[in-house]
Amino acid sequence: DPGQVVYVDSGLDGVVGKAVILECGSTRPDVYIWGFTQPGTDAIKAVVYDFGKGPKLQKLAQSLGDIQVISGAASLSIERLPLAAEGLYTCQALYDTDQGAKLIYYYIHLRVLVPVSKPNILLSDASPAEGSLVWLRCGLENGTEPLYFLWEYETYSGLVSIVSEGNSSMFNMAEVNRNNTGWYQCWARNQVNQERSDRIRLDIIFGPDIPQIDVTPYSITDRGYYVKERQTVSLLCQAQSNPPSQYVWFYNNSQVYTGPKFTITRILRMHTGTYACQSQNTYLNTRSFKTINLTVYCE
Ligand SMILES: *[C@@H]1O[C@H](CO)[C@@H](O)[C@H](O)[C@H]1NC(C)=O
Ligand SMILES: *[C@@H]1O[C@H](CO)[C@@H](O)[C@H](O)[C@H]1NC(C)=O
Ligand SMILES: *[C@@H]1O[C@H](CO)[C@@H](O)[C@H](O)[C@H]1NC(C)=O
Repeated sequence: DPGQVVYVDSGLDGVVGKAVILECGSTRPDVYIWGFTQPGTDAIKAVVYDFGKGPKLQKLAQSLGDIQVISGAASLSIERLPLAAEGLYTCQALYDTDQGAKLIYYYIHLRVLVPVSKPNILLSDASPAEGSLVWLRCGLENGTEPLYFLWEYETYSGLVSIVSEGNSSMFNMAEVNRNNTGWYQCWARNQVNQERSDRIRLDIIFGPDIPQIDVTPYSITDRGYYVKERQTVSLLCQAQSNPPSQYVWFYNNSQVYTGPKFTITRILRMHTGTYACQSQNTYLNTRSFKTINLTVYCE
């Protein structure tokens, strides 16, 4: 329909600090005015116009970055996009054709995207006890939404797995156990780029479990351990614990030794009785016991 103004609408994504080109149609108009409307406002302000005697940049252009009119065209180039350049650009273009004047309005909605910065992990407790709730947050200083997060877990033996992903920066573990011990690392991603955090160590505190007692040498019956008189007998106590257990040995309920391995050289019949190992996690102040019966016999 000749005589009617044509409106052309488009969107353009730029990245802060990078260059963009805003095109006013595909052929150079005879006359044009570029305008800018800041987000949240209605007013359109002139950026540059050219009535046929060369482009006239307006003062406003300075606040939108290093704007240049591409020579021989009506396109604008911005070298290093500032955040302030985000908004609606309107090119009012007049074409002098054989059928008369033609007017086109080009609307370009420019978004200035910010790349994600390197994330930092915030951890609720670096040394939580088994059974407690632990959360980790992938903290970001910069990055245009929508954001996407991914958590990686690496065991001390180097096995890596993805334990969480999605649009939440939080990763929760309702009841941690010793198997959650290891390294954690998060990735943050948006439309522009992705970055990963340094890895952070999670050291789960636990135990002691019920100890295991190893008697050497021995023979065992349903009434306990039997050892021959005059042998050297060692009793080794081991309990899973983090931090490692402290051990105390008892004979007939009296303390006889501190440490995991209690050795009796040349054991005698009078050493018959009950031997108990107590393991203690001094960090949690928790204890566990194991008792055995030991009978010394002579040949
Ligand atoms: C976040 O963006 C601001 C402004 O552009 C910049 O000064 C700062 O260095 C950025 N932070 C990071 C962690 O990249
Ligand atoms: C830890 O993992 C081991 C091996 O997969 C499993 O046997 C054990 O039950 C797990 N421990 C806990 C507390 O979940
Ligand atoms: C320890 O207890 C055992 C079994 O009750 C007993 O035979 C032994 O004499 C006791 N030893 C000492 C030193 O009291």
